[in-house]
Parts: sequence; structure tokens; C-alpha cells
Amino acid sequence: MKFFVDTADVAEIRELAETGLLDGVTTNPSLIAKAGRPIKEVIAEICALVEGPISAEVAATDFAGMLAEGLKLAAIAPNVTVKVPLTWDGLKACKALTERGHKVNVTLCFSANQALLAAKAGATFVSPFIGRLDDIGLDGMELIDEIRTIYDNYPALTTEILAASIRTPNHVKLAAMAGADVATVPPSVLKGLVKHPLTDKGLEAFLADWKKTGQTI
Ligand code: E4P
Repeated sequence: MKFFVDTADVAEIRELAETGLLDGVTTNPSLIAKAGRPIKEVIAEICALVEGPISAEVAATDFAGMLAEGLKLAAIAPNVTVKVPLTWDGLKACKALTERGHKVNVTLCFSANQALLAAKAGATFVSPFIGRLDDIGLDGMELIDEIRTIYDNYPALTTEILAASIRTPNHVKLAAMAGADVATVPPSVLKGLVKHPLTDKGLEAFLADWKKTGQTI
């Protein structure tokens, strides 16, 4: 499974990129607003830090506007993935951008049929939002299962399932078990994946015993 980080905070991305375990980054208009910086500047900096796909989302809602914005975003760096919403215009923009050789992430996916349309439009990634489905009392992980089943039924569909709106380490585990290709994870959750109290306790005990030996390696 590939790990993307879901943030537009360049300092956090730099820190996580140093682990060598970061495969890409996703941003959205809310995350850009939170960063409080111009989108083109932030995306350019992130693209220089991480080699993998960097999602940058359009703000237009009509086909022509999305295509024009998508082309501008794609021109920032070769690893930009243009993010478009899962609407008819977004799907048309997805097809037009992929036909021009650009990577596209179709976002705000909340149903298996929407994911099927995204794949037919040639999306590189589709982003089902797990947490937001859980928020309204549905099972976000069930959607990942459904999309995996459908995509596996049609090998010609090559769209990758990018599990998004992840809120907990358990979401990451369940998305991996359900066969999501990618998880985009907030920095705090990504950092939390390594933690286990028994790891800390075990290490403490090993180090104490090692000290008693008086050895060095
Ligand atoms: C994904 O690309 C989205 O930016 C993100 O995962 C949305 O997460 P949220 O529902 O926590 O805002």
C-alpha cells in the first residue's frame, strides 16, 4: 500500500519525507486555506520535496474552468496530479486531462457507482471519503470493499483506490485489508502508526539489560 500525506503544511511534509516512506501528497482547497499561502507556491514546494504524485485541486465547477485550472496546476511540476470533484463536469475534465497525459485524482467519491464512472473517465486515482461516510452513520470501509470488488471484476479499469478522509490508524489497517491501493493520511495519524506501548516497554527493557553487559557494538 502506498502512503500519501493529506496536508499542505510544507514543514510537516518535509519531516515525513525524511522517513523515506512517503509516496505522495494530497491537498484540497480547505488544506490550502489552512496553510494560508498561494496554491501555486505551496504545490511547487511540495513537488520539489516529494517525487510521487502531488494532488492539487481545481476550484472551478464547470468543465471549461476545471480544464483551464487543471492545465495551470499541471504546469507547476511533472508530478502534479490534478484533483477534480466527482460531478459530470469533473468527469469530463478528468477525461480531457488524462487524454492530454496528465494524472487525475477524482475526489469526493461517496458511492461505488461514482467510482465506476471515475474509472471509466480514466482517473489515475479515485478518492472515496471514509471518515465523512462514518460521520453520517454509514460504513466508509464498506465503500472501499465495494469499489475493490468492482474494479477487480474489470481488469481493464486501472484506476487506483485512494482511501481518503482517514481519521484513525484503524482506518489505515482496514483500508489496507480491503485492498485500497493508497491511503492518504493526516500527519498526526501517519506518525501514530508506528506507536505501540509494548514496543516502548520492550525497547526500554532491552536497553537496560544491554547497559548491564558493559558492551559496545
Ligand atoms: C483527500 O484527498 C481529502 O483531502 C481528505 O482526505 C479529506 O479528509 P477530511 O474528510 O478529514 O477533510
